[in-house]
Amino acid sequence: MTEFTAATVYDLPPADLVLGDRVAGRMYTDPAIFDQERTKIFERSWIWVAHESELPKAGSFKSTHVGRHPVIVTKDRKGEIRTLVNRCRHRGASLCEKKTGHANGFTCPYHAWSYGLDGKLRGIPYPDGYEGVMDKADLGLKTLRTESYGGMIFATVDADAEPLADFLGDVKLWIDRFMAQGGGYPVKVLGTHRFTYRGNWKIQLENTTDGYHFPIVHRSWMASVDAETAEMMSFMTDPTAVTHDLGNGHSVMQMVPEHSDLEADDGSEPLQPRFDGLVAQLEAAGADEAEIRRLVRAVHGTGFNLNLFPNVSMSISFFRVLRPISVDETVIEHVALGSDGPAEIVGPVNRERLRAHEHFQGPFGFGTPDDSEGWDRVQRGAQGAPELPIMVNRGLGREKPSAEGWPTSHVTDETGMRAAYAQWKRMMSDD
Ligand code: FES
Ligand SMILES: [Fe+2]
Repeated sequence: MTEFTAATVYDLPPADLVLGDRVAGRMYTDPAIFDQERTKIFERSWIWVAHESELPKAGSFKSTHVGRHPVIVTKDRKGEIRTLVNRCRHRGASLCEKKTGHANGFTCPYHAWSYGLDGKLRGIPYPDGYEGVMDKADLGLKTLRTESYGGMIFATVDADAEPLADFLGDVKLWIDRFMAQGGGYPVKVLGTHRFTYRGNWKIQLENTTDGYHFPIVHRSWMASVDAETAEMMSFMTDPTAVTHDLGNGHSVMQMVPEHSDLEADDGSEPLQPRFDGLVAQLEAAGADEAEIRRLVRAVHGTGFNLNLFPNVSMSISFFRVLRPISVDETVIEHVALGSDGPAEIVGPVNRERLRAHEHFQGPFGFGTPDDSEGWDRVQRGAQGAPELPIMVNRGLGREKPSAEGWPTSHVTDETGMRAAYAQWKRMMSDD
């Protein structure tokens, strides 16, 4: 294991900047490393692009990015989900600047070449100049490999990437559990809150698997919720609250273990009195006791953060999606989740879920502003004293395999960060 010093840290290859218990601050500040990450990580991994509920019918689309590639994720006429590179095959103009919507196809605003939802080039205005020099069949939009699991849609630029199911591995079980928060209905995206912070994307990647900061940074949130909610989040001293390394850079942080499997309900946990109003509304809508219990328990989400390397975490009751813009600029999207069912039932439930989301993640919430202050500070600190490493050693001495064989330690330990950095190291040393 090579140790880095102020004299060597700028000369070492990126893979040597990750040691078992620490990483070099240069990983957050070097634009050359950022450039390599875009190619070796963001253009070789499976990148989360959408949830199936964002593409409800043929013609639905969402524009996003996979590595450097702007893309449009579409549902075509046959119901197939495709990831099309958002770049006209004529002279390269972007086809679509809208975030989401519904379309019959995409027409380039520059010279009006038009493409179907499946990416095929359908029409060219004034086609007479093209006789004998071009076959339309050769000039469809570039399409990325797209696969999904449990409603989570991923795309990759790498034609040789392993199948998504293999990349996810043991994560699949946790995705299944996460989706149980629909409370008997499918999970549906309710809305998105987007913001930028002036820091490296990996600071965010670490944060979602950082239980240690919670009672410190989120003190103001803890003080603003009722006692029972605060109690539920007091996992710092709960020995059953653990983090598992699930392989391939993925990890899961079980903060409220008794909510990890919402379907395993022995009926002993009372519903919080603050949901009395919601219970009354559901009774009035005709829901039976079992359904009310299922829905109300699911309002909290699943009590775990599932961190999928490299760009999405499924966190209690929302997705947190990161997009690296430059070495010190990252866009975050918080995607609020609810249930998709009859309006009289899911209406009141989803309103409650949105209020909880706003309270923590929204622009006026208590959680996100406090988190992002921390991320900005890490970036500013990383600029200086290059010989001082960033520590990810918490709990290294007490990490043990779980019954399933996952390296596991307490939820406040840095097991998830070590998992992500081990994957980073593997991918960055690949040529
Ligand atoms: S660049 Fe798209 S039609 Fe010319
Ligand atoms: Fe936080």
